Amino acid sequence: MSGLFVKNMSFKVGQTLTITGVPKPDATNFAVNIGHGEDNIALHLNPRFDAHGDQRTIVCNSFQEGNWCEEHREGGFPFQQGEEFKIMITFSNQEFQVTLPDGSVIQFPNRPGDEKYQYIHFEGEVKIFSIEIK
Ligand code: GAL
Repeated sequence: MSGLFVKNMSFKVGQTLTITGVPKPDATNFAVNIGHGEDNIALHLNPRFDAHGDQRTIVCNSFQEGNWCEEHREGGFPFQQGEEFKIMITFSNQEFQVTLPDGSVIQFPNRPGDEKYQYIHFEGEVKIFSIEIK
């Protein structure tokens, strides 16, 4: 698997993870995965410019016990290829809240229900500039 990995970190309930980056000019999609490891992803946040049959759609899902679970699709798509973005993520044991670059917020259930995750994986056509947990 390729991409940028952060392992052995501590992202806990109530904290905010702030990510800045830029999708490549020809990006088809990119994803931010948060969980315990490659086989256990609580939040897969996948902006798709043009990928897997979707255009300008954000797909969220979780990956548990070797399978993708039920997808959530959100209405807006405040991303542009080649345009810098900031995403903020916070969570409770019930749900993730993701603040998108235009200030809109999407929710996704915290299906494992855990209060701490230690793994982030960025995949796809994106360059990450910064990651901060506060
Ligand atoms: C699949 C795709 C995965 C992931 C998943 C989310 O179609 O291959 O990368 O995005 O959807 O449900």
